[in-house]
Amino acid sequence: MTVTSTIDPAFSVGPVNPWLFGTFVEHLGRCVYTGIYEPTHPSADEDGFRGDVAALVRELGATVVRYPGGNFVSNYRWEDGVGLRESRPRVLDLAWRSVETNQVGTDDFLAWCARVGLEPMLAVNLGNRGLAEAVDYLEYVNGNPGTRYADQRVSNGHAKPWGVRLWCLGNEMDGPWQIGHKTPVEYARLAQEVAHAFKAFDPDLQLVACGSSNTTMPTFGEWERIVLEHCFDDVDLISAHVYYEPVGGDEVSFVAASAHMDRYIRDVVATADHVAAKRHSSKRINISFDEWNIWFAARHAENRHAENKVEHTEASEAPALIQDVYTALDAVVVGSLLITLLRHTDRVGVACQAQLVNAIAPILTIPGGAAWRQTIFHPFALTAKYARGTVLTLAGDHGQVDTPAYGPVEQVWAVATHDAQSGELTVFAANRSLTDPASWTVRLGSFGELRLVEHLVIGDEDHNAVNSEDVPDRVVPLAGVSTLADDHVTVTLPPASWHCIRLASR
Ligand code: AHR
Repeated sequence: MTVTSTIDPAFSVGPVNPWLFGTFVEHLGRCVYTGIYEPTHPSADEDGFRGDVAALVRELGATVVRYPGGNFVSNYRWEDGVGLRESRPRVLDLAWRSVETNQVGTDDFLAWCARVGLEPMLAVNLGNRGLAEAVDYLEYVNGNPGTRYADQRVSNGHAKPWGVRLWCLGNEMDGPWQIGHKTPVEYARLAQEVAHAFKAFDPDLQLVACGSSNTTMPTFGEWERIVLEHCFDDVDLISAHVYYEPVGGDEVSFVAASAHMDRYIRDVVATADHVAAKRHSSKRINISFDEWNIWFAARHAENRHAENKVEHTEASEAPALIQDVYTALDAVVVGSLLITLLRHTDRVGVACQAQLVNAIAPILTIPGGAAWRQTIFHPFALTAKYARGTVLTLAGDHGQVDTPAYGPVEQVWAVATHDAQSGELTVFAANRSLTDPASWTVRLGSFGELRLVEHLVIGDEDHNAVNSEDVPDRVVPLAGVSTLADDHVTVTLPPASWHCIRLASR
């Protein structure tokens, strides 16, 4: 198939939001213990965090990190994770039915964030705890010395307030699997009280109210409306979560999952703007897409949170939970989800891929051994590195794929970023057909004389190719095929492939 599009500086959506490249660390499985933290690992730093993992996290280029959950947070006592490590209690985590040793807690994690260059986004427990504990926690983290909890932090060795700006008010509170899950009004009242108190502490905090856990929830849409009608004045963002997998083996729709994410964002924006309209308000509530990824939940029925089926096996420390291994095809899907997020840079305030290490993650580790990049690491790292300046949409014909789940969707799913200062123009594109290649001509006449810097492609004739400890670089970005002429570039897009095409002013 042959398709033609145009990119023009006038097609601006807004500046690239660096917070689109967030990640997520939950006390889940081996994400924290033997993931980012393993004091006995040969690469461990003086605080017990793995140096090999830290190097990969820096290379990934994530900007923001959500912590400590996830479902975990709804049963979490922040007090258990601060102070002397040897005095911290071992507790039962009910979300993942694991033994939590509390060897990593808030101060340890925030110090690690500073070392690896991540902006933290902390979640408070609104499951089995409430307003008072949330406010105490905020004071512990951000309070100036001289009051009770801030002084506790000082005596734990952290004199300076951490200055955490981003806060999530609970997690997936609509989910029956959540410890302390609530009706929309129960949650909305509590979130409003917490948000009001947090803003009294510091009006510059960015607060995220829980939206629906996903679009299949029976209260999707209505939950967002009710929550925002209560919290509109006090919060800044509303969360969205989604995990994709080929449902019933439907890979045609799976490759087009970005079409679902696109509609999800539009629906939540519409709901938030409806609440604004009713209030005659120009305030815009943006989306915190603070969990998104591929999760082969069907392969992990024992952990299927949506069915509240955490098995009553013996709880253990850092069990190997949901360690999905990602394929070349999964990398294409992740790349196309990043394209969707960029296309909504004006309304997605934060986005966090879930999660960072081992549990549904771009990085896998062996306890005491190697760490390597999964296939999905690569589109994330390339997008985080090269999306700069202004996001531009493309006009034109992008072909069509008919999907069982989402109906007809554009075959070529693309976005561009243009940095007027450096002259760099980067095009991100995915061919969302499993079977049909595309020859894609992109007209670039408005940008003056350009040169092709690099064209990288992710995809593989073997859609199931994976990276492993033994062959960590089986799927990596390779050189793509494109030709630059006077005012256009022609790009070959093999079936199920993702591309990063870098151009610059001559
Ligand atoms: O990311 C894994 C889990 O998925 C999180 O703990 C929860 O919020 C979501 O359901």
